[in-house]
Amino acid sequence: MANWTTILFLLVAAAFCRSSSAATYTVGDALGWTVPPNPTVYSDWASTKTFVVGDILVFNFASGRHDVTEVTKSASDSCNSTNPISVANNSPARITLTSAGDRHFICSFPGHCSNGQTLSITVTSTSSSPAPQPSSRPSPSPVPVPVPSPSPSARSPSPSPSSTPSSSPVPSPTPSREPMTYIVGDSFGWNVPTSPTFYDSWAQGKTFVVGDVLEFNFLIQRHDVAKVTKDNYASCSGQSPISLTTSPPVKITLSEPGEHFFICTFAGHCSFGQKLAINVTGAPATPPSSIALPPSDTVPSTPSPTTAPPPPNAAASLRASAFFATFLAVAVALFY
Ligand SMILES: *[C@@H]1O[C@H](CO)[C@@H](O)[C@H](O)[C@H]1NC(C)=O
Ligand SMILES: *[C@@H]1O[C@H](CO)[C@@H](O)[C@H](O)[C@H]1NC(C)=O
Repeated sequence: MANWTTILFLLVAAAFCRSSSAATYTVGDALGWTVPPNPTVYSDWASTKTFVVGDILVFNFASGRHDVTEVTKSASDSCNSTNPISVANNSPARITLTSAGDRHFICSFPGHCSNGQTLSITVTSTSSSPAPQPSSRPSPSPVPVPVPSPSPSARSPSPSPSSTPSSSPVPSPTPSREPMTYIVGDSFGWNVPTSPTFYDSWAQGKTFVVGDVLEFNFLIQRHDVAKVTKDNYASCSGQSPISLTTSPPVKITLSEPGEHFFICTFAGHCSFGQKLAINVTGAPATPPSSIALPPSDTVPSTPSPTTAPPPPNAAASLRASAFFATFLAVAVALFY
């Protein structure tokens, strides 16, 4: 009886594995395909995934400012795009992983690959057991610069390494509270975004109060932070900025109420959306004793992170439930 059950289990499992469906992975998740704020972002991203033949990579990037160049391993190691295997210039670039083995993707724009815009993955074939290192798959562990979980919808606040995931929900912002530090763009940092309204969306729903701090994280000498007038913000002019800061991380304390405008003065960056406009409200009333928010390193989070499970996990659980349904049906049919 036990043997029968085991055999049945293996048969169903084998049948099931062949029918598992392909997964689609958005490279870098919400960060997209760009010069990352930290050179290990894409290797960290890939280390939490198991790629199988038939899976699809989607690269989202600003067309004309990046590309997806597939190269050999040695060319990837040396960031040499002279003899590419393929080049995709238009976003989104969808690449189906048609065979097992290692694949290497870089951006051929000068300096991008050497600053971390490079992705190497290993694709396994479907017939082998799912994962060579099953232990590395389960949950994306916190990494120095975490990439938001791959929920394609709402941009989730950056899970900072020190954050306590299940602390009591942050109360809705009120005029009276401790000063807060906002990480501009969360884990995306201060970068040329894929969408020109990225920083508008980031600022939306946040309440900035006099005394709060904006922290801009970016690669030195590839971006800067200029505080500018409303007109210069609108026209993306970095001429005579109110202030200009070039060394990350740039921390700017919001000392006055009203509108504040920030741009990157590097050519083209602002017009591609690397610009931030915020409204700062008046000074907080009395520092309350009831709410003690950690003053820094805390990105305000929506009270309940309604995180849909990431696609691969969703697919996995679907596979699991489909499996058990099939197993039960077969078992019932055989034994009753
Ligand atoms: C890049 O690779 C090509 C061959 O694919 C080689 O001829 C060239 O010297 C390489 N460039 C550098 C800078 O290594
Ligand atoms: C700031 O608030 C005023 C009044 O609500 C609004 O007209 C303006 O567009 C806001 N500016 C920004 C940058 O959000």
